Amino acid sequence: MYYPDELVEEIRAKNDIVDVISGYVRIQKKGSNYMGLCPFHNEKSPSFSVSASKQIYHCFGCGAGGNVFTFLMNYENFTFQEAVKELADRAGVSLPEIEYSAQAKKEADKKAILLEINKEAAKYFYYQLRQEQGKIGYRYLSGRQLSEETIKKFGLGFANKTSNDLTLYLKKKGYTDEQIIQAGLATADERYGTHDKFWNRVIFPIMDINHRAIGFGGRVMGEGNPKYLNSPETPVFDKSRNLYGLNFARTARKNNIILCEGYMDVIALHQAGFNQAVASLGTAFTAGQANLLRRYTENVLLSYDSDGAGTSAALRAIGILREVGLTAKIIDLKPYKDPDEFIKNLGAEAFQERIDKAENSFLFEVRVLERDYDLKDPEGKTKFHREIAKKLCQFSEEVERDNYTQAIAEKYHMGYENLRKLIHSYASKTGLAKPIERPKSGIQSKSSQEENVRKNQRLLITWLTEEPYLYKKVKDYLSPADFTDELYGKVAAKLFEGLGNEGFSLAGIISLFPEESEQREVAELFDTKLQMIATTQEKEKAFHDVLLKVKENSLEYYSSRLGSDVTAINQVIEGKKALETLKRTHISFQD
Ligand code: UTP
Ligand code: MN
Repeated sequence: MYYPDELVEEIRAKNDIVDVISGYVRIQKKGSNYMGLCPFHNEKSPSFSVSASKQIYHCFGCGAGGNVFTFLMNYENFTFQEAVKELADRAGVSLPEIEYSAQAKKEADKKAILLEINKEAAKYFYYQLRQEQGKIGYRYLSGRQLSEETIKKFGLGFANKTSNDLTLYLKKKGYTDEQIIQAGLATADERYGTHDKFWNRVIFPIMDINHRAIGFGGRVMGEGNPKYLNSPETPVFDKSRNLYGLNFARTARKNNIILCEGYMDVIALHQAGFNQAVASLGTAFTAGQANLLRRYTENVLLSYDSDGAGTSAALRAIGILREVGLTAKIIDLKPYKDPDEFIKNLGAEAFQERIDKAENSFLFEVRVLERDYDLKDPEGKTKFHREIAKKLCQFSEEVERDNYTQAIAEKYHMGYENLRKLIHSYASKTGLAKPIERPKSGIQSKSSQEENVRKNQRLLITWLTEEPYLYKKVKDYLSPADFTDELYGKVAAKLFEGLGNEGFSLAGIISLFPEESEQREVAELFDTKLQMIATTQEKEKAFHDVLLKVKENSLEYYSSRLGSDVTAINQVIEGKKALETLKRTHISFQD
């Protein structure tokens, strides 16, 4: 459901960016801007700037930037729609009701009821843990060194020994047997009728990212089978698209997320201060979960069990993460089995050391592979080297592949040249892997010339936003098509369309791009650092230079496309004329 552009713009205009950001970050007026410490990266001196006149923010350190919506998307990890909702509330703007079809409405109502039931159940379990009959559960959790604070934070609870008290309780609240069964909290059979799924277990409620209970895990207190019992999948509990602990980890403000195997691992890590830990839900890690993680981080630290099963699970997770463009590192827990035990024995500091020493996932994979070969035997060694070469083919980018080739050659005492030749012989047979798209990463290896061109286009747009009256002086010579970067061209078109108009706002252009990464780029366009130049004369020269560079590049760009692009011919003819005139024209910085 998308809100109309005008409504989005109204909401944006009613939320002053300085006000909103001040609620999260300490900023101080410095000249025409407000400056503060950037909340999106670690820094000691302020490079985070908020512009009241442009209604945008931008960090010169890490490149974060955008309008008031982008800020909330970044800070709260909201989607664009969520940010719009939040700020509509803040400004008292009412949003149109979402129009559901009859079928969709029924589905939505059904889900709402299941969520209500889960919430009631979570409260019930939580309450039982603090009753006489729940003491045994509380003792079990304390025995595992969980503090009262932690028990509260995760809403841990207790399912009584009697086998249908939750069902009775929920029925008294007005829910039907069918609804309770559908929520996964009860099962029915001929002999016992409807009875509780969980009994005599400590309960771990599973929350979605909005802190709503969507399912439960129940552990036996001591030995027993199964050790954990989990809610089945229900219309509100999709195990492949949720992660335990993500409701907290998403706002942890760490530059990584720790992925582990168990509920207890997550809880122990959070208690030790690693509030960026999450786990899958009693099932193997899925692509859906990897995609979810990608919304919050680029760096995943795997903290799987150190036994054989944990290692195989880690290998699978590495592959899944790689598929969605996330890089993983592996935390070594030895000699302990899992993060929970590690922390219990060695504490948080030691765990942090292991984080700092986490191993690159590729080197981890090769190290595991190595175990299958007898390296003392020349034949085993050769086979191992061949496998390595095959694996190195997965890096389609030469620089990356070469860096890994060097690292591996050094670590396994292989001749670098030999290894390289081996890789090439495999690559020519099977081809290199297709490049993986890395949507979130800003570090694309563009050639420096291309980057220079884009930089000039950015500078020109920033100049025009700083000194809007300049636009009418150059508009006969400049068109959006001169901005050969696709996104820049779109922004220039909107900017030129708006610059003449009453009530035009720069920050509004940003909301036309719903992707956070695009919003960041657009903000950067409006706020590129201009050289500190004092005299008007110098400013005029700098502006003129940039303008000429953009025009020259545009001419070159379209000249090279004369055969393939029908609009190119006009661009070239016009461009030549404009450039000639511009070279002779003085553009004064006076209105
Ligand atoms: P583990 O067996 O590693 O348990 O299972 P754990 O997390 O270390 O638990 P403790 O410390 O013994 O209490 C890891 C995860 O696998 C799922 C659970 O999600 C568990 O947290 N699991 C395990 C089940 O769903 N059912 C089981 O019977 C066992
Ligand atoms: Mn454990």
